[in-house]
Amino acid sequence: MDRYKEIIPDFEKFKEVVKTHQPFDCRVNSLKTSVEEVKQHFKDEGITFEQRDWNKNFLKLDKRPGKTYAHWLGKVYVQESTSAVPPLAFDFSKKDVEKTKVLDMCAAPGSKTTQISGIMENKGEITANDVKSQRTRSLLANIYRLGCLNVKVTEQDARDIKENGGSKKYDKVLVDVPCTAEGNLREKDYLKKGVQVKDSKNMSELQRQILEKAFKLCKKGGEVVYSTCTFSPEENEMVVKDFLDKGMLENPGFSFPHSKGITEWNGQTFSEELRKTVRVYPHQIDSGGIFVAKFTKL
Ligand SMILES: C[S@@+](CC[C@H](N)C(=O)[O-])C[C@H]1O[C@@H](n2cnc3c(N)ncnc32)[C@H](O)[C@@H]1O
Repeated sequence: MDRYKEIIPDFEKFKEVVKTHQPFDCRVNSLKTSVEEVKQHFKDEGITFEQRDWNKNFLKLDKRPGKTYAHWLGKVYVQESTSAVPPLAFDFSKKDVEKTKVLDMCAAPGSKTTQISGIMENKGEITANDVKSQRTRSLLANIYRLGCLNVKVTEQDARDIKENGGSKKYDKVLVDVPCTAEGNLREKDYLKKGVQVKDSKNMSELQRQILEKAFKLCKKGGEVVYSTCTFSPEENEMVVKDFLDKGMLENPGFSFPHSKGITEWNGQTFSEELRKTVRVYPHQIDSGGIFVAKFTKL
C-alpha cells in the first residue's frame, strides 16, 4: 500500500485501521420495514448494533446478521457501508421516478440494485445485468428476498448489451465494474500489500470497454455513475479521464468524510475536473474503500 502514501490522507491512521476487522454492516430495506423495526428485531435476538451516523439506513453489528429473522424476511441486506455510496450519486429528485429507466451493468449479487430499488420505492424500471450465471442466481435471490418489484434481470457480457437504435436508452446507468478490489483489504489479507500495477492495468481495459458501452446506452442528459472498490488510480481516475468528452463530471455533493479524486499520478497530470470524483478510504467512514465518478452524458 506504500505506493498510495502520497494520496491517502492521514496514511498512518489508514494503516492502523486496515489492520482491524471491518464492522459487519447491514442496510435496512425500506421496501419492507423501518430502521426502528429492525432495531427491535435485533434487540429481541440479542444482537448489538450501532446506527451509522453518515447513513441512518445502516446498522453496524457485532456479528453477521445472515441467520437472523430480519435477514430471512428480507428486512435487511448485508452490505458494507461504502458499497452504498455509488447509488447515492444518482439524482432521483428531479425526474419522474415512475418513468425512470435504470441500467445496472454489473449488478450481482445485487447490493446496489436492491438499494436503488428501495430509493425508487419500487417504481420505474431497473435492468440488472451480470455476466456470471452463478452470481446472477444470487442476484435473483436477493431481488426476491427484498421484494424488489421493479427489477428485471439479464445475463450477458455488459459490452454486448444491444443499443437497439436508441430505443432502449436509459436515464441512469450504474457501472460498478469488476476491479482489483483493494478496498476490501480489511477482510482479505492477500490485499493488504496492494495489487500489482500490471493487474490493475489489465483490469482497466475491461473497465474502459464497459464504461464506453454505458455512454452508448445512456440518454443525453442522463447520469452515468462509474465505481470501483479499489484505490488504484489506473482503474479510477486514469479510466475516467478518457471519457471527459462523453460526459461532464459532477461532484455528487456528499457530506460524509471523503477525499477528492487525484489529478497527478506517477508524473502524469490529469484534468482538474477529476477533483469532482470521490474517493472514500476505510478510515474515513470505518468501512472499506470505494471510488465514484458521476457523469452527466453529453
Ligand atoms: C464489483 S462486482 C458488482 C457488485 C454489484 N454491483 C453489487 O453491488 O452487488 C462486479 C461484477 O461484474 C461482473 N462482471 C465481470 N465482467 C463482466 C462483464 N463483462 N459484463 C457484465 N458483468 C461483468 C462480475 O460477475 C461481478 O458480479
